[in-house]
Amino acid sequence: MQAHYGFAGFMGKRVHLGVCGSIAAYRALDLVRAFLDADCMVSATVTDAAARFVTPLSFEGLGASPVYTGMFDAATERESAFGHLEPGQTCEVMVIAPASANTIAKLANGLADDMLSCQALAFAGPKVVAPAMNPRMWANPVTRRNWDMLEKLGFIGVVPETGKVACGDTGTGRLAPVEEIFLAGLKALSPQDLNGKRVMVTLGPTREPWDAVRFWSNPSSGTMGACMAMAAYLRGAEVTVVAGPTALSFPSGMSVVQVQTAQQMNAACQDLWPSMDVACATAAVADFRPVLYGPDKFKKEQGDGLHVDFVPNPDILKGLGVSKQGYQRLIGFAAETRNIKSEASRKLKSKNLDLIAANDVSREGSGFGTATNQMYILDKAGRQESWPKLPKTEVAWRLWDHLLLD
Ligand code: CTP
Repeated sequence: MQAHYGFAGFMGKRVHLGVCGSIAAYRALDLVRAFLDADCMVSATVTDAAARFVTPLSFEGLGASPVYTGMFDAATERESAFGHLEPGQTCEVMVIAPASANTIAKLANGLADDMLSCQALAFAGPKVVAPAMNPRMWANPVTRRNWDMLEKLGFIGVVPETGKVACGDTGTGRLAPVEEIFLAGLKALSPQDLNGKRVMVTLGPTREPWDAVRFWSNPSSGTMGACMAMAAYLRGAEVTVVAGPTALSFPSGMSVVQVQTAQQMNAACQDLWPSMDVACATAAVADFRPVLYGPDKFKKEQGDGLHVDFVPNPDILKGLGVSKQGYQRLIGFAAETRNIKSEASRKLKSKNLDLIAANDVSREGSGFGTATNQMYILDKAGRQESWPKLPKTEVAWRLWDHLLLD
C-alpha cells in the first residue's frame, strides 16, 4: 500500500466484499489485502461461479471473516441463521468486485436468488460495484440499461477498463485497477465534507536545470502533498495536483499537472488558481535557479574555478496570496530549522495565508522523505496548536478538519 493511503480513520471499519464469477476474481484477493492493510475488517461473499475461479479458502486464508458462499451452506448457517442480512447490520460499505453482468442485472432489478444478491438487497449502506465481463456483454443495451439504473439508484460504479480481455477480444470490460476500487471503497467510508470544493495541491521538489544533464533540486518525496491530496479526494473534493518530479502515482479521479521547474509550477498554479476554492502548497520549491550554462553539457576540463550563479525563482504561494479572493483559502507549509513559531507567523502574514503548518526539518521523523511530521499549526484567527509526531496521513486529515472550522 502506498504511504499516503494509511489514514487512521479507517481502522476497524467493516467492509463486505462480494466476488462474482470472472477470470478477474483472483484480483479480489488483492482487494482483501488492501482493505486489511488499511486496518479495515473484511468479510466476503464468494458466489458459486466465483468459487470455480478462486476458492473461499483463499479469502479466509488472507484474513476475510466470515466468508459466505451459498445461501444454504451448512457451515454458514451454523455461524448465523441470517447470513443474508448480516453485512447489512454490521458493515459500513459493500464492494462488489468483480461484478458480473448477471449480478449487475440482479442488483438493478432487486432480484435476490443467491447469497450475494440477498445481502446487497438487505444492505442500506454505500455499495461500490466494479464490473468485469466480455466487451460485448458490457456494450449490450441491456447491460447499459442495468448499469444506468444502478447509477440512478445510488450505487457507486467503478467503470471497467478498455483493452484486451481474457478471451482475446479487445474492448471495454476489464476489471478496473484494484487501487481504484479500493479508493472508491475508502471514499464511501469517508465524510464528504469537502464535497464540491475544488482543491489544488502543489507537491514534490522542483528541478532547476543548469546544463544539458545537471540540475539543482532537493530530496522532497512529495509524500505530505500526496497525503493532503488523497485526504481531500477521499472527502469529496475535486483535486488537482501540480507535481514536481516524484515517484508518486495518483488515482485517475485526480487531475495531475506534471512540471519540472519552479517557473513551470508557478505558471500552472497561476493558471488554475482562479478556478479553485482552496490551494495547499506543500511543494519544496527551489527558491533559486542556476543561471543556465547553456544547451550543452559542461565538460570536466572546463571545471577549473567553476562557479554557479543563481537567480531568484518566483514565490508561488505568495503570488496566489496576492490574488486570493474572499471565498478562497490558502494553506502553506513552512520547513524550518529554528524559530518555528515566529517564522510560521511571518509567513502566514506575508503570504496572506489562512492556515500554516510548520515543522522542524532538522528533527528526526519530521521533514523530507519521512512518513511522519511534527507540526506547529497557526491560522489567521490566531489559533495555534502543537501536534505530536504523527503520520503524514493523520497530519493531512487534521489540517482539512482545521480548515473546515472556518
Ligand atoms: N513556497 C512557494 N514558492 C517558493 C517557495 C516556497 O510556493 N518559491 C511555498 C512552499 O510550498 C510552502 C511555503 O511557501 O508552502 C513556505 O516555504 P518555505 O520553504 O518554508 O519558505 P520560503 O518562503 O521559501 O522562505 P525561507 O526559505 O526563507 O524559509
